[in-house]
Amino acid sequence: MTSSPIRLAINGASGRMGQALLSLLRDERRFELAHAVVSPGSAHDGEPVWLGQALRHARDWSRAPALDVVIDFSGPAGLAATLDHCLAHGIPLVTGTTGLDAQLQARLDAAGSRVALLRAANFSLGVALLTRLLREAAAALPDWDLEIVEAHHGRKQDAPSGTALALGQAAAAARDSTLEDAAVYSREGHTGARVPGSIGFAVIRGGDIVGEHQALLIGSGERLELGHRATDRAIFARGALQAAQWLVGRAAGHWRLEDVLASPR
Ligand SMILES: NC(=O)c1ccc[n+]([C@@H]2O[C@H](COP(=O)([O-])OP(=O)(O)OC[C@H]3O[C@@H](n4cnc5c(N)ncnc54)[C@H](OP(=O)(O)O)[C@@H]3O)[C@@H](O)[C@H]2O)c1
Repeated sequence: MTSSPIRLAINGASGRMGQALLSLLRDERRFELAHAVVSPGSAHDGEPVWLGQALRHARDWSRAPALDVVIDFSGPAGLAATLDHCLAHGIPLVTGTTGLDAQLQARLDAAGSRVALLRAANFSLGVALLTRLLREAAAALPDWDLEIVEAHHGRKQDAPSGTALALGQAAAAARDSTLEDAAVYSREGHTGARVPGSIGFAVIRGGDIVGEHQALLIGSGERLELGHRATDRAIFARGALQAAQWLVGRAAGHWRLEDVLASPR
């Protein structure tokens, strides 16, 4: 570990996740927050990040100082601009932003040859374990119907959640299938019978739900339910900070949260 604090930037600093990160960073000695980015038209542009301190929210990366690592929880446009900056300066990037289109996914895939990247649809330890358990259950019960239900707060922009999709991907792979082949995202009207081997998704939106995911493996006369409920987004913020510390100084490439858990610093 470096002896001086890690120079960190946050993209999406005024958002729900950004705020969760900022409140942890107040008492953090491992990190020095050096830059905090919000959207170009943000009401928070130019506001102090913390009351009584000099650092102000910035609308872009043009005045960013030298950095050891960037954490991004923003949106697709914010992530695209952050990726440009990280590529131009060789800065490792941790991102939890979801709802990316194929073009941005492809850009991120290609960026792994130039910078260290750690992407996770969910930074919670409990969800990492849920994914492992679902993989095992889906393989052990190959003929049981699988449905994934997720619930989030009403302002969430994308659906199904990145975590629900990642769970579906893990289960499909465990059954030698792909999410593209197995997923059913909506059912309405005369749908016909359920297609064997498909993975159905259902989405709930409302209030202040932080994030809930449930995988239902439905057999004949019995049902297995695996679920996770996040009640405080500090869990994602803690996971992202742990990942950022771990990523500093790593070689270019795509790293996973499991790599961080397997060899903590
Ligand atoms: N992987 C995980 O564990 C995890 C957990 C929670 C959320 N997420 C994902 O993280 C993302 C953010 O979630 P959230 O709930 O924090 O969202 P949010 O509350 O809507 O906050 C979004 C933040 O991004 C900023 N932003 C928007 N467009 C931007 C741009 N073009 N450039 C720079 N900044 C921009 C916003 O700035 P202004 O509002 O000031 O304009 C705000 O600070 C979502 O994709 C969400 O699904 C992932």
